[in-house]
Amino acid sequence: MGYTAIIPAAGLGKRMGMDYNKVFIRINEMAVIQMTVSQFEKDDHCEAIYLAARADEIESMNELFSDSKKVKGIFAGGSERQDSIYNVLKQIPKCRYVMIHDGARPFVTKDTLDALYESVKVDKAVICGVNVKDTIKIVDDGLVTNTVPRERLFVVHTPQAFDYDLILKAHREARENQLAVTDDAMMVEELGRSVSVVPSNYDNIKITTTEDLIIAEAILQRGDLG
Ligand code: CTP
Ligand code: MG
Repeated sequence: MGYTAIIPAAGLGKRMGMDYNKVFIRINEMAVIQMTVSQFEKDDHCEAIYLAARADEIESMNELFSDSKKVKGIFAGGSERQDSIYNVLKQIPKCRYVMIHDGARPFVTKDTLDALYESVKVDKAVICGVNVKDTIKIVDDGLVTNTVPRERLFVVHTPQAFDYDLILKAHREARENQLAVTDDAMMVEELGRSVSVVPSNYDNIKITTTEDLIIAEAILQRGDLG
């Protein structure tokens, strides 16, 4: 038994400031979304991949993945990331585990996928992340009110792995309660369920602004991505 991957790629890429969706940017001949999907294609535990794409980009996305054995469906996204994911979740065949992963994170490694997969079988909701490198302070009206102990702070990445029934329920309740969230795990936390954490790594960046393209090229040139 394996997992199903859901990859939202239906954003606008506004912070990248280009006149097209950043997941189509080519780095080293390949579009970002192709690199992302290929990490799941290579993972034997991944049984199927479903994407969310903007309605006017479904056709170009279909062309990119016409030869893929694992990409089984590309659905229209919604106005927010969580809408895009819900739209996919509710249309895919029922499965045991899902991993939800940003289309704009092409450097997820097999180690991270394995850690999430092993953990979700036990814990039902698992995220991955890295320790913060900087000191973080809470600032109110220009004055420091608190310095947060760094060992307790995590930068959260994707994938996030869930039991399928649990994440579907979490998305449905979040919609009913009009809960605005920044990741999928937050909806599970809102249900009062525990969410466990496994290590990601610092390469697993989200391509967000133009500086990230420079880092992406450096990671590719290093040539040792897992
Ligand atoms: N995403 C999506 N549907 C949306 C918004 C985002 O599927 N309505 C996807 C993006 O394509 C991306 C991932 O969610 O792969 C993470 O979102 P983000 O990095 O914020 O991408 P964008 O929303 O495209 O970028 P921006 O916020 O700068 O416009
Ligand atoms: Mg966004």
